[in-house]
Amino acid sequence: MSTDPFISSAIEITDEEMRAIQDAIMKRYGIDFFNYEPKSFKRRLQRIYRKFNFTSSFDLWSRTLKDKDFVHDFINEVSVGLTSLFRDPEFWHTFKGVCKENFSDQYRINIWHAGCSSGEEIYTSAIVWDDLGFTGKVKSIATDISSNALKTAESGKIIQAKLPEYERNLKLYNQSARLDKYFAEGKDEIIFKPKFLEKVTFKNSNLIMEEYGENQYDIIFCRNVLIYFDGQCQGKSD
Ligand SMILES: C[S@@+](CC[C@H](N)C(=O)[O-])C[C@H]1O[C@@H](n2cnc3c(N)ncnc32)[C@H](O)[C@@H]1O
Repeated sequence: MSTDPFISSAIEITDEEMRAIQDAIMKRYGIDFFNYEPKSFKRRLQRIYRKFNFTSSFDLWSRTLKDKDFVHDFINEVSVGLTSLFRDPEFWHTFKGVCKENFSDQYRINIWHAGCSSGEEIYTSAIVWDDLGFTGKVKSIATDISSNALKTAESGKIIQAKLPEYERNLKLYNQSARLDKYFAEGKDEIIFKPKFLEKVTFKNSNLIMEEYGENQYDIIFCRNVLIYFDGQCQGKSD
């Protein structure tokens, strides 16, 4: 039984219904969701049914075709934005070591955060580059299909409630690192200092439809994103 209040186990969605909805989104908005992993896509659809009180796939299908603004709600619900500052602290510790060996502050470093969610991965990377003393040389592009997530990422805002977890992760990455070097106190939140986001460009885009420029980036982050796609689509990124 799901613990997510928006997922009802009572609503069954067949493969045909799922494909009809994907087809409607593609025809109406040109957005490709065909390569999402079916089980996880159906779970997201169930969440949408509950949240918007749809009683059948037909309701969702016709709303998709009739209401052009609904697509934004749809995308924001389908994309799951779970993230964290220094998610997997050990990874970041290793990442720092690898970057120290392979890059130098003499050259520009181009990074793509594909599926950046609400920004914590970008902030983490910026802290690591600052730690390495390479800050001025790093230029990043951060993309996500969810415009809500991107807005949050660009604002640099993190709610206070997440602070204990983020502080713990930061210490696991580097015992002597201090959060207040990078974050300022806001009213109900803390804010990633804008100077660390100066060289980040934010862009709304669907990874499935994106063209990959060869050798354009030194590092591409796509952590916890490809898991949403089916095997065929994951293979396209090789
Ligand atoms: C679980 S979060 C991962 C965030 C971050 N990379 C991390 O590891 O902490 C997945 C992100 O992928 C985005 N996403 C899902 N499908 C996408 C697509 N087709 N194109 C671009 N972003 C997508 C979601 O909106 C969400 O913000």
